[in-house]
Amino acid sequence: MIVRLDLSGNTTTPRPFVLVAMALSADGKIATSNRVVHTFGSPRDLAHLYALRATADAVLCGARTVDTGDVHLGPGPACYRRQRLAHGLAECNLRIVASGSGSVRLDAPFFTRRFSPILILTTERPGRRRLIELERAADVVALCGRTKLDLAAALRWLQTDWHVNRLVCEGGGQLNAALFAANLVDEIQLTLCPFVFGGRHAPTLADGLGVPRLAQARSFQLRAIRRVRNEAYCVYTRP
Ligand SMILES: NC(=O)c1ccc[n+]([C@@H]2O[C@H](COP(=O)([O-])OP(=O)(O)OC[C@H]3O[C@@H](n4cnc5c(N)ncnc54)[C@H](OP(=O)(O)O)[C@@H]3O)[C@@H](O)[C@H]2O)c1
Repeated sequence: MIVRLDLSGNTTTPRPFVLVAMALSADGKIATSNRVVHTFGSPRDLAHLYALRATADAVLCGARTVDTGDVHLGPGPACYRRQRLAHGLAECNLRIVASGSGSVRLDAPFFTRRFSPILILTTERPGRRRLIELERAADVVALCGRTKLDLAAALRWLQTDWHVNRLVCEGGGQLNAALFAANLVDEIQLTLCPFVFGGRHAPTLADGLGVPRLAQARSFQLRAIRRVRNEAYCVYTRP
């Protein structure tokens, strides 16, 4: 199904709570510059990620993250599915990918492993033929803007039509940057891992254009920091 969002909709309509969850190298990268290494947290970090997903109605990521191959965004082992049910959530979270041009790789395992609805957030940029391909690969394709993806409108739609109250965004840097730029991030959960990747072009927590002045930076409060063996688990929230 393809739906076209009403972008002139009421901007006071509530949106889900948005939590960005990422593993970072000690130098702030989310992958090596050749993108070969992108999962580098410990098994404990993976369990932490599943526990965060178990609190959310939906998990979102960008097209290049889906393209990397081993991304499924699912609830993980049975114990996390049980946690979800105990919290009154659906057994499996919704899985959402942002792909403004529709270039996301449709043969990625993300699309072949079907266990919960897949939504694609895109724009009017993909041609008719590509839209049909996207529609075949997903449960719903949402057109969220003419050339630019209106993330705020997409979030309002997710809340209204899909009852998404809490959403975990798992990157990558470009999607995160767009969420920060639109001031849509309520919490950041970072796992600092003991590696230095270097590389000017290695993706970071938030890429895109960035801000030119400190006054324009999104600011957060460090709410908690916990060291477990060689990793630091940090929680930042809106002031
Ligand atoms: N360490 C971690 O925790 C972690 C987590 C996630 C990802 N990663 C790594 O990060 C890398 C990917 O990051 P990335 O920054 O290159 O890519 P990304 O954010 O995953 O995906 C970028 C793509 O998503 C779509 N997109 C993102 N924001 C959009 C917006 N505002 N409007 C429209 N479309 C938007 C676009 O797709 P179209 O081109 O189709 O328009 C864009 O090209 C991978 O190497 C991945 O493995 C690491």
